[in-house]
Amino acid sequence: MKIGRLNHVGVATPDVEEAAKVYARLYGAVEATPARDFPQLGVKVIFVSVPNMQIELIEPLGDASPIHKYLEKNPKGGQHHMCFEVPDIIEARDEMVSRGATVLGTGEPYIGAHGVPVIFVHPKDTGGVLIELMQDPALYKGEGGH
Ligand code: CO
Repeated sequence: MKIGRLNHVGVATPDVEEAAKVYARLYGAVEATPARDFPQLGVKVIFVSVPNMQIELIEPLGDASPIHKYLEKNPKGGQHHMCFEVPDIIEARDEMVSRGATVLGTGEPYIGAHGVPVIFVHPKDTGGVLIELMQDPALYKGEGGH
């Protein structure tokens, strides 16, 4: 298993609309999706597109949001994770486990904000960097990645 292209960088923020305005005003990154709620993931998201990837702006949604803890420590927000594409999410998950990394949650891939299965690997395994692995959308054949 070898990671593929960087799909997006996740940025936690208390307000995705305000954050999107900053990327547009300061950096001219005006190509952005409307804000979308993902209640099942506990996040509200705007994707800002740049030529080679996206910036995933993430705001907590609901009390159980996985972003709450991050914003408690970093109230103004900050860089939250990096997401790389993998050709097969199940194989990637199994390789992570056999290489001694900690897959967060149940360890089962689930459908993320991009509509393809993802897993997250604990930041302690990568010097403090939370890594998301995403089924390569071009190779996705349906629920579960197979
Ligand atoms: Co992400």
